[in-house]
Amino acid sequence: MAKIKFQTPSGMHDVLPQDQIYFQKIYKTIEKTFDFYGFEKIDTPILENADLFSRSVGVNTDIVEKEMYILRTKEGKDALALRPEGTAPIMRAYLEHGLNTYPQPIKLWYHGPFFRHERPQAGRYRQFWQYGFEVLGDKESVVDAQTILIAFNILNDLGINNISIRINSIGDENCRGEYRKALVKFLKSKKNSLCRDCLRRSKTNPLRVLDCKNEKCREILNEAPQIIDYLCDDCKTHLKSVLEYLEELKIPFTLDPFLVRGLDYYTRTVFEIEVPFGEEGEGGVLAGGGRYDILSKVLGKTNVPSCGAAAGIERIVSVMRARKLEGVYASLPKVFISQIGPLAKKKGLVIFEELRKAGIKATELFSKDSLKAQLSKANRLNINTVIIIGQKEALKDMVIIRDMETGKQSEVSIKEMVKEVKTRLK
Ligand code: HAM
Repeated sequence: MAKIKFQTPSGMHDVLPQDQIYFQKIYKTIEKTFDFYGFEKIDTPILENADLFSRSVGVNTDIVEKEMYILRTKEGKDALALRPEGTAPIMRAYLEHGLNTYPQPIKLWYHGPFFRHERPQAGRYRQFWQYGFEVLGDKESVVDAQTILIAFNILNDLGINNISIRINSIGDENCRGEYRKALVKFLKSKKNSLCRDCLRRSKTNPLRVLDCKNEKCREILNEAPQIIDYLCDDCKTHLKSVLEYLEELKIPFTLDPFLVRGLDYYTRTVFEIEVPFGEEGEGGVLAGGGRYDILSKVLGKTNVPSCGAAAGIERIVSVMRARKLEGVYASLPKVFISQIGPLAKKKGLVIFEELRKAGIKATELFSKDSLKAQLSKANRLNINTVIIIGQKEALKDMVIIRDMETGKQSEVSIKEMVKEVKTRLK
């Protein structure tokens, strides 16, 4: 049979133990943070009805247009999508389980894998990990400010500095129409100078044109009408109040009139948190979010004003690694169990369990019979307390405890072993 070399699919990657130390640090930090701010954890399926995303994220967004992994069920009736993001599924779960009947707001957090068929490059994967949080059923501007604060605090607690926050308001159903009209008029007047992508978007999703990275387009777009000038009074007051809260909290931010985000469900506040790109290509936008008051209506229910954010775990990990920030390292074993002979191996297994029950982290090399190999592992791990059981000790239900530094050895009964080890480890 021909030899096949299997690799992870393009744009997907293994999270190896050397990455896990950062993933674990992030999980520990978010768990503590969300607990403090009164969020509860939710998990939704990896697969959702594809229509959930086309309706909520929007048919004319990159995510739905180009990036969704869709599969048909065996019966061929349902089109299911590997979730590209977490907000729409959480709103689906909120509505499906009648969470609107509980005292509001409902605060939920999550983490897990997400899928977007993007062109793989640094910081852009086809399967990536996000953590996120959503406050459902609250229209107050203080929620927007706290969402930004929490997203900022987590990065800060991970030791990431040099963070910048960009904020914009993209209005609501009342005022965005007027702005869209003005923008389309402007884009039409510049149609001979804009790139092909912008021309296409000015017809399908004009606000997304503001996000174009092409330098020539950027120059032209600097002259474009700005949404801030078109906000209705309610949206203006909301934005002003969000910014005032942030000022009070001394959270640094800049207003970015071009920030629109790549998902259609947003209303009013949108924001992104980024760090400058580093030498290894790490950095860029680490987290983003905003308010989405009309998402539930798009899904066929009454308005559930909500706000939330999500962050890309790989992007955070690459910043942590490049900046040599701390991860969570596994605790080292304190005791090594070595055995010589079949009966000693049996006793060794039992002793290992005794230590586990006593909460003493131990390790062993049961698969090797040579004492030399076993002791050299204990040495490599820098373990000072070694338990040695030979055939003679095993027959007497005794063990030898050896202090590796002094070379001193003493014999104790298996019954007394845990007590003796505890005293030595003190
Ligand atoms: P998003 O901006 O699409 O928002 O994604 C959030 C974060 O996920 C990004 O800032 C980025 O760090 C990371 N990310 C996105 N795509 C990729 C990728 N292909 N590879 C690696 N990392 C990626 C959302 O998903 C919204 N659901 C956020 C939200 C929650 N809005 C309200 N609530």
